This record gives sequence, structure tokens and C-alpha cells, in this order.
Amino acid sequence: MKNVLELLCIALFLFSCKKEIKQPKEELIMYQSSEMAALMNAMYEGNMTVKNKILEGDSIGNFPDIYLNIHDAVLTDPADRNASFEAFSKLYIQNMQQVYSGSQDSLKQNFNQAINSCIACHETTCRGPIPRIKKLLIK
Ligand code: HEC
Repeated sequence: MKNVLELLCIALFLFSCKKEIKQPKEELIMYQSSEMAALMNAMYEGNMTVKNKILEGDSIGNFPDIYLNIHDAVLTDPADRNASFEAFSKLYIQNMQQVYSGSQDSLKQNFNQAINSCIACHETTCRGPIPRIKKLLIK
């Protein structure tokens, strides 16, 4: 049992985002060059605003249609758009729409679920921004 766990840790380490080591420099390049990176940053800002509105009890408005661009925005590395990426982006959009259409009572829970689906995709694509994304979660 212990060996299995050790193996899993090693595997996770080996398969974690290969870009991680060069992160700071690449993040700068991504920021300017990729449509997807720009969309991601817009989603980050948008969700930070929503988090604050939820905390203050303000209305969060409507689902921002630009989030749907996740289905065709150009990635820094176009090869990242594989079957797994498509599946995670569909799940993310579904969860995000639920935040806007769900009941007021489950708003906080639905919001955290949507943010957790950002994180789920990042676990499989690029782990660098995960600590930042976690700041969006409502405690
Ligand atoms: C379906 C997978 C997926 C989902 C869902 C997803 N991301 Fe990303 N994210 C990526 C990928 C891939 C990149 C790298 C984009 C590139 O380099 O073109 C990225 C990049 C980023 C970046 C770094 C952008 C930069 O300037 O380099 C941030 C911040 C980010 N995502 C936040 C979020 C947030 C917040 C959410 C949810 C609201 C989210 N992501 C949902 C896959 C995803």
C-alpha cells in the first residue's frame, strides 16, 4: 500500500506541468501572445468580482458570454486542446452557467464548484496558476 502511494507521488511529480520550471518568463510571453491566456485572465478578474459580490450579497448579473470562447480561443500551445481539455472546458462552462441560473441558496456552493472545475483542468494542463485560482474559492 505504501509503495503504491510512493509510486503515485512520483508519477504525479513527473507528469505535472513541464512548463512549471520556466514559469515566470513564460507567463509573461503567454500574457501577450495567447488568446486563451487573455481569456483566462479575464475569467480570473471576472470571478474575483463575482466572489466579492457574493460576499457582499449583491446581484451577480448574467453569465458572461465571453467565457464560451474557451471552446475556440487559440492556446499558446495548440496541442493542449485535446479530448481531455474539451471535456474539462465543457464541465467548467456547465458549472459556471449553474452559478448564474441556480438558486440563491446554493450560490456560494455552485460558485466554489465552478472554481474547482478551473482547478481540475489546471491539474491536467498547467499547474502554475493553481495557487492563484484557489484564492477565488469562498471559505
Ligand atoms: C479546460 C481547461 C481549463 C479551464 C476550465 C480553466 N483553465 Fe486556466 N488555463 C488553462 C490553460 C491550458 C492555460 C494556458 C493558456 C495558454 O498558455 O494559452 C491556462 C492559463 C490560465 C492562467 C494564466 C494566464 C496567463 O497569463 O498566462 C490563469 C490565471 C488561469 N488559467 C485561470 C483560470 C481560471 C480562474 C479558471 C476558471 C474561472 C480557469 N483558468 C479555467 C486551462 C484551463
